[in-house]
Amino acid sequence: MDFRTQSASFDALASVSADALIVVIAGSSLPKNLDKAVASAAQDAIKLGDFELKTGQVLSVMRPQGLKAPRLVLAASGAGTVKAARAALAGALAQVKGRGVAHAAAAFVGFDGLSASLAEHVVLAAREAAYVYRHTKASAPAAKLAKLTLLTDKGDLEAGKAAKTGLALGAAIANGVDMAREFANRPGNIATPTFLGEQVKQLGKEYGFKVEVLDRKAVEKLGMNTFISVAQGSDEPLRFIVARYDGGAKTEAPVVLVGKGITFDSGGISIKPGAGMDEMKFDMGGAASVIGTLRAVGELKPKLNLVVLVPSCENMPSGRAVKPGDVVTSMSGQTIENLNTDAEGRLILCDALTYAERFKPAVVVDVATLTGACVIALGGVRSGMYATDDELAGELLSAGDAALDLCWRMPLDDEYEEGLKTNFADLANVAGREGGSITAAKFLQRFAKYRWAHLDIAGTAWKSGSAKGATGRPVGLLTHFLLGQAAKPAAKADKSAAKAQKA
Ligand code: BES
Ligand code: MN
Ligand code: ZN
Repeated sequence: MDFRTQSASFDALASVSADALIVVIAGSSLPKNLDKAVASAAQDAIKLGDFELKTGQVLSVMRPQGLKAPRLVLAASGAGTVKAARAALAGALAQVKGRGVAHAAAAFVGFDGLSASLAEHVVLAAREAAYVYRHTKASAPAAKLAKLTLLTDKGDLEAGKAAKTGLALGAAIANGVDMAREFANRPGNIATPTFLGEQVKQLGKEYGFKVEVLDRKAVEKLGMNTFISVAQGSDEPLRFIVARYDGGAKTEAPVVLVGKGITFDSGGISIKPGAGMDEMKFDMGGAASVIGTLRAVGELKPKLNLVVLVPSCENMPSGRAVKPGDVVTSMSGQTIENLNTDAEGRLILCDALTYAERFKPAVVVDVATLTGACVIALGGVRSGMYATDDELAGELLSAGDAALDLCWRMPLDDEYEEGLKTNFADLANVAGREGGSITAAKFLQRFAKYRWAHLDIAGTAWKSGSAKGATGRPVGLLTHFLLGQAAKPAAKADKSAAKAQKA
């Protein structure tokens, strides 16, 4: 999709040419400087009782009087926040979806100027509206909307620059989000571990990442026995994907992202009920999101070093499958009793977390569709976030806020670890039903010997029902987090101080 900016006086929107003019209005009254034709259409609609300046209200007007554009879409955002503006724009875009609108122009009136953040979310909202899953459909019409012009008010001197910055960031994130959605939406027989490995290799060629894809033999050599124990029930070969982006100084410790890449989770011998089991093709949502984030990083080229790790396999029942009660020695040396083969995500992640140690990371963040309990706790609005230190938690929270890809901090009190005790191994892979997302995080924490955070995206990675499909979350959160890490003056200063000391 093509995004442009165009300077236009908000008191002369009538002359804007596009298939649809979208006017997003903040506040509870029409701004004074608003174009007369737009204002009179809005006033008429308000008088007729068809439109109110209240959050969520949208109205399309065909052949609006005095306007060059053949369609006018009014959208009330209520508050003048970016979040409200994005929601209002999404509402307006839903109105023109499937219609003959190839080019839309959007003006945000009554706002306190146009910020880079607003421009970013204009792109994200438009790209979200335009995404169509086509890969396994013989007939799926592409979205018609191909071009969006963001109108900046002539009087708003900062707007042009802010819009350009925001549009570029939004496009990079949207490309990452679309890639994550596309991979996660593809069925388990297509988006296999092998497929993911090949796609990351391809991405490496495009952006200059170093990519290694390890097979079963290689991970056996590394001692990743818990990862292998999950994969062993399936005929589909496992992959362990390692990708590196070097954008920082050689001496700088990297950020490591780890994504759960279960391409289908049947539950294994502790098999899941049949209803809705198809949705377990989305169980590689964590992997999809870290790969999508890698793509965004390739485009944005922030000054930092990044390592992306994806343990990927299927979780299937068979004569070779791991059984409840089996004890396996993880790469860390800790033994694990498998009390429920459906708690497989933590078993592939724990070996990946141990593998991450070799990079002497500044911080490791793992991302996983880990527990149904997290869906119960937080639903589909916020991802569960766990962090071993407050600063890191704060950074992830604000990255989520900036990206409108929200998360919520969950606790890591040691009391939650009690349930993981067993008579037959160093730890069990499940505790009781209570606090299931937290006990899963406590399991992972046993393997994280560095600054670490964990995102449980079981509720946010995909939608069910008629809107069934991957969301591409948390690519936005992760990208903002990485940009924040790259811009962190304190850490850089610390490192150069350490370097100076050594010299
Ligand atoms: N992939 C699932 C988690 C999941 C379930 C995500 C439902 C989204 C919706 C995970 O591997 C799993 O099965 N977890 C179990 C853990 C339990 C056995 C301790 C769960 O949540 O039921
Ligand atoms: Mn499972
Ligand atoms: Zn799973």
